[in-house]
Amino acid sequence: MTTTGSSTSFDIRRIGGRIGAEIIGVELTSDLDPALVTEINSALLEHKALVFRNQQLDDAGQLRFASLFGELTTAHPTVPSVDGQPNILPVDGDEGIRANRWHTDVTFVRTPPKASTLRSIVVPPYGGNTLIANTAAAYRDLPAPLRELADKLRAVHTNDYDYAAPRSEKAAEHRKHFVSRKYRTEHPLVRVHPESGERGLFIGGFAQSIVGLGPSDSRDLLRLFQSYVTRPENIVRVSWTPGDLVLFDNRITQHYAPDDYGDLPRLLHRVTVAGDVPAGIDGRLSHAVEGDDAAHYTPAAA
Ligand code: SIN
Repeated sequence: MTTTGSSTSFDIRRIGGRIGAEIIGVELTSDLDPALVTEINSALLEHKALVFRNQQLDDAGQLRFASLFGELTTAHPTVPSVDGQPNILPVDGDEGIRANRWHTDVTFVRTPPKASTLRSIVVPPYGGNTLIANTAAAYRDLPAPLRELADKLRAVHTNDYDYAAPRSEKAAEHRKHFVSRKYRTEHPLVRVHPESGERGLFIGGFAQSIVGLGPSDSRDLLRLFQSYVTRPENIVRVSWTPGDLVLFDNRITQHYAPDDYGDLPRLLHRVTVAGDVPAGIDGRLSHAVEGDDAAHYTPAAA
């Protein structure tokens, strides 16, 4: 049985009102035929975040699954990968990697990833969830005058801004890596999804200013638009058990990992699929303002 009305060879159980579904009956360790991958991709476009429970993939399996959706990026433009695994980013709470800021992955480069996979390896007994927000629903929630304003705006995203002081030596070390190369990229504030045509607010933590506005107006407007993204209606909360895999569409979501598990260990591995150059409603593409084209990070750069 599906809850979407469309017929698929697996079950889809919605877990949020506006975003998120569990996919039941797909074994990610087996070879997935192209028709099944197309069905998963359609479910991704509709639900934006898909949870595959109890898959017990290893690194090779996660890489193989992510590759079904396109070429992979390397782990990150600036942060080191898992040893010997150039395409895998360790999301390790013990290493000070705690993504407790709403963001879309790597929007500070011109071609941010299309999709991200997160695989849980060690999870705390409580807390350590991942929240994922639907930025298309946020756009649709805007009152018409705000939507018309958003349609015209462009924002500059950067990895180099006034972060809060790191809370540990490891977090300070991670921050040092994070900003070791500086990127600034101008993106449309409203991105048109290249596959579904849906419009979504394309902002998040790396969006630091609005083109043509001063810092104070930029901050106020970004905060206002962001408040629509983080409305509880637009969010799904994923509670991890070891061996789960989550696939989310990075072109039309933001995510946040609450830092609510103290010193308990938490380790996920992240693998991302390369994305294209974002386009606004007027068709204008994103462009780099500062930094290289991140060709070492994503095959989409060229
Ligand atoms: C990330 O931002 O990719 C990490 C998300 C998480 O830790 O749940």
